[in-house]
Amino acid sequence: MQLTAEEKQLAVQTARQVAASHRPDKGSLIPVLQEIQAALGYIPAVAMQEVAQLFGVPAVDVYAVVTFYNQFRLTPPGRRQVKVCMGTACHMKGGQIILESWERRLKIKVGETTPDREYSLERVACVGCCTMAPVVLVNEEVHARVTPTRVDGLLFAHQLVREQEEGGKDLAPNDSN
Ligand code: FES
Repeated sequence: MQLTAEEKQLAVQTARQVAASHRPDKGSLIPVLQEIQAALGYIPAVAMQEVAQLFGVPAVDVYAVVTFYNQFRLTPPGRRQVKVCMGTACHMKGGQIILESWERRLKIKVGETTPDREYSLERVACVGCCTMAPVVLVNEEVHARVTPTRVDGLLFAHQLVREQEEGGKDLAPNDSN
C-alpha cells in the first residue's frame, strides 16, 4: 500500500522516538514494535527499516518478528475497522462464514485494508457479548447475530452514508447561494 510522504515521515519519526526509549538490542524489538503500532495503528515498512538500522539488525529480522505475531498490522487501519469475533460462541454460530462474507465483498483478506482505505478487516477474540453471537464490530459499534445478508446491509448503509458525505462536500460551495 502506497504511503504519502507525510505518512512516511511520521513513521520514521515515531520509530526514532520509540526506539530512543529502549535498549537497542533484539530483546527490545517486540515492545518497540508494539509501541509503534499503538502510535500509528500499524507498522509501516519504513518504520521497520528505521528500527533495524537503529538496532543494528537486518531489516529482514524485524520483518520476521512483525509477520510472526498476528498482533501486528502491516497496513494502515481503514476508516471503518471491521472486527469479526472468532471467540468460541461466535465461531460455533458461523463466525467463519461471516468473516469469509466480508473477505469476499471487500475483496481483501483478514489483516488487510481496502485500497481506498475505507475498510480494514480483522478477527478478534471474544468481545464479551456471546449471547448475541455471531458478533461483528464496525469501529466500536456492535452488530449482533450477523448473517451474510446483514453484511450486505451494513455495506449498503455505509455506501449511503458515504454518498451523503460526498454529496454534502459537493454541495457545500453552493450552500451560501
Ligand atoms: S465469542 Fe463472540 S462475543 Fe463472545
